[in-house]
Amino acid sequence: MPVITCIDDLKRRYRRRVPRMFYDYAESGSWTEQTFRENVTDFAEIRLRQKIAVDMTGRSTATEMIGQPVAMPVALAPVGLTGMQNADGEIKAARAAEAFGVPFTLSTMSICSIEDVAAHTSKPFWFQIYTLNDDTFNRAIIGRAKAAGCSALVITVDLQVLGQRHKDLKNGLSAPPKLTIPTMLNLATKWAWGIEMLQTKRRFFGNIVGHVEGVSDPSSLSAWTAEKFDPALNWDKIRKLMDMWGGKVILKGILDVEDAEKAAAIGADAIVVSNHGGRQLDGALSSIRMLPAIAAAVGGRTEVWMDGGIRSGQDVLKALALGAKGVMIGRAFVYGLGAMGEAGVMKALQVIHKELDVSMALCGETKAGSLGRHNVLLPADFLDRYR
Ligand SMILES: Cc1cc2nc3c(=O)[nH]c(=O)nc-3n(C[C@H](O)[C@H](O)[C@H](O)COP(=O)(O)O)c2cc1C
Repeated sequence: MPVITCIDDLKRRYRRRVPRMFYDYAESGSWTEQTFRENVTDFAEIRLRQKIAVDMTGRSTATEMIGQPVAMPVALAPVGLTGMQNADGEIKAARAAEAFGVPFTLSTMSICSIEDVAAHTSKPFWFQIYTLNDDTFNRAIIGRAKAAGCSALVITVDLQVLGQRHKDLKNGLSAPPKLTIPTMLNLATKWAWGIEMLQTKRRFFGNIVGHVEGVSDPSSLSAWTAEKFDPALNWDKIRKLMDMWGGKVILKGILDVEDAEKAAAIGADAIVVSNHGGRQLDGALSSIRMLPAIAAAVGGRTEVWMDGGIRSGQDVLKALALGAKGVMIGRAFVYGLGAMGEAGVMKALQVIHKELDVSMALCGETKAGSLGRHNVLLPADFLDRYR
């Protein structure tokens, strides 16, 4: 096993191992990528407050997310096409999350199906729904998630239309990849990825191919979203989905105090302050910058989590200090998965956990649940630079 000390080490190995098309798919944001970049760089504006001579023994990062015990308040975010980053990727990531003791969220746009992931794990995972303009499908997939024992439904509310990522269009992103000459030349340099991929049958959108008809190109994410995602989603429909599910619900993709108020009012168990990893509205503020106001407004009524830009345990600490009760990570675990499969996701979690634990100690804190505004120093205008 190579010496991996940080998430960037995993990212470098990931870049070498995975075909360009899928690396670019993960490592990009929409349009100019401003929001994608600022999700990361805004964390650097926040500084940690060092404390000394505090008893640091008996530390614990363990807390709860929607009442579920977690080894640290970090859940794996839903990531489409995870099974293209590494063969059977969703199963591998779910198994690593289970072994580590954090929640895994399966995307609607996954390669491995809900049933497949359930068959290869022993604890309940969460299911993320993208609502299609097809009620029969929505009802059926919710039924399948229930039958598979999923313990929460994550409803993604920020993708009624798809933000454009230039690289995906230029690369002709599809699952499985179409064998054009540039793709074949690139695949020839990714033989370890290819050998594993040839050994699995899971190379299509496992939750939807065969369950929905009438898409012009079933291998294309953009065709699915353009033709089948529901551009008419509204709060009534969200409420109906919550009723259909009847269990714990997390609304993901809230970036505005007014929307957070509505989410709390309809009874979401948690909301995720998120801009979809900078993949939707380019020019929106970073999640970490929007978090404090949203946490202050609704944190007493619903659990407020955030995602976007988390690449270290220090980032997790900063988010918890600014009011999040938990966070989700997307790319950080994808880098690990692409680099080294299940062991790489485990490594990503271990890296983040160690960084969180040691940083907590150096901030004079022994419990993740006690982190707060007192642990960070902010530029004078951090909270109100943009109004
Ligand atoms: C490659 C990729 C695919 C994604 N697919 C989905 C998805 O299928 N459903 C969803 O709700 N969010 C999806 N997201 C957004 C993530 O759930 C999460 O909000 C985002 O990755 C957080 O930012 P981070 O990657 O900087 O941690 C995706 C993100 C990436 C990078």
